[in-house]
Amino acid sequence: MENRPQWGTRAGFILAAVGSAVGLGNIWRFPGVAYENGGGAFFFPYLFALLTAGIPILILEFTIGHKYRGSAPLSYFRMRKGAEWIGWWQLAVSFVISTYYAVIIAWAMSYAYFSLSKQWGDDPLSFLVGDYLKVVDAGQVGSIVPGVFLPLVIVWVITLGILFKGVKKGIEVANKIFIPALVILFMVIVVRALTLDGAVDGINAFFKPDWSQIFNGKVWVAAYGQIFFSLSIAFAIMITYSSYLPKKSDITNNAFITAFANSSFELLAGIGVFAALGFMAMQSGQPIDQVVSKGVILAFAVFPQIINELPAFSAAFGVLFFVSLTLAGLSSLISIVETYVAGVQDKFNVSRTKAVAIGGGLSALISVLFATQGGLNFLDSADAFINNYGVALAGLVEVVFIVWVAKELKSLQSHADAISDIRLGSWWVISLKYITPIVLGIMMVMNIMTDIKTSYGGYPVLFNVYSGWLVAIGAIVAGFVFANAKKWDKALYEIPEDKGVSK
Ligand code: ALA
Repeated sequence: MENRPQWGTRAGFILAAVGSAVGLGNIWRFPGVAYENGGGAFFFPYLFALLTAGIPILILEFTIGHKYRGSAPLSYFRMRKGAEWIGWWQLAVSFVISTYYAVIIAWAMSYAYFSLSKQWGDDPLSFLVGDYLKVVDAGQVGSIVPGVFLPLVIVWVITLGILFKGVKKGIEVANKIFIPALVILFMVIVVRALTLDGAVDGINAFFKPDWSQIFNGKVWVAAYGQIFFSLSIAFAIMITYSSYLPKKSDITNNAFITAFANSSFELLAGIGVFAALGFMAMQSGQPIDQVVSKGVILAFAVFPQIINELPAFSAAFGVLFFVSLTLAGLSSLISIVETYVAGVQDKFNVSRTKAVAIGGGLSALISVLFATQGGLNFLDSADAFINNYGVALAGLVEVVFIVWVAKELKSLQSHADAISDIRLGSWWVISLKYITPIVLGIMMVMNIMTDIKTSYGGYPVLFNVYSGWLVAIGAIVAGFVFANAKKWDKALYEIPEDKGVSK
């Protein structure tokens, strides 16, 4: 354990953390979620969730990883012997997410290529579900779609190739390339979108508050879900990444930088996407609410439509957009897979190469299910359930456990304060002790009731049972199974001395 890898520089760590946070969630999820949940009125719950849950939990996870210097299961184990399962649960959630996240990146890669000749033709939606994905009814698997399978193989080769190289030479180097490239590409896209006719109308629609939505529980659920997913918190990532920090590291400041960068990017993506939607609405003479859509459809059907209508350089715009999506996705996928690579390595005492091959290999194999004709339906259901009852619920359990069961908040606060410029005040304590458990707790109960009463996405109940509920419950069961699979090596009980050099 003395050889635990370390980031080479502070900037390297921050870029990796930002790379993890900024992902598909910012580009394909946020604009649609914000619009669906009241546009401008969404920002209040969003900011509330960011300030009282997102940033406090990010600081908490950075501190846990830094203090206990282990993968999530090992860090929880070192905190309290019985808590290891929470780490494995979060790892299992990451595992599930990685299996479909890789597929969305594969679509983005294909679409970067399709952009060159605008292969989607005049009707991008029929192209997406018909020609490209060849979608079948919910529950059917159909055959493997070669146009998804091939880029999927490339996604896994890149991701696992980077992970084989290790933390400093692989993850850090990749993010140093991906993130600046992503920022530049995305800036070009946003500037171009802002200069299109109708852009202002789109942005107005995005920011125009629909206050009737503010007391709607669903809007708050969406805000918390978005913050958790987007900041990569509660699925073991930030604990793992901060476990590679040298002893002398500024925790709190790093967390603020990461959160600020992530939300800025998210807002920028929202502005860019809505400016483009405003353009499209103007071209087609339709109101914005007729052209906006969520997630998959927004990125892979509405955007191609916009590209079709651009007056000039449309192919280049398409390539930029989908390459950005690919880069943002890859840097996040790396972090998601790293959680279980680190966990397997710690617990089963195997080499990094073996852990990447086994963990990543298994995930890659399962991801093929989402590259079938039935993949889109499975993906939609798994994504919804693993976010609500994986990420958000694991976040709630994490906070309640640390604050109220293990009573670790004070010691974690002292740990962070001892090495950070910014001191953690009562805002941090009150947020984690009261606000997050209460708001998130109420929200969770409401959400469970809604999902029991109405079948998510209008799918058949049975379909949501096995591709949604069972996946989320399976992650919890996996948590207990792995926690009890084997005893830790005695040598790992102690937190290792930091032999690294801080820069
Ligand atoms: N934080 C990553 C995203 O937003 C997982 O996509």
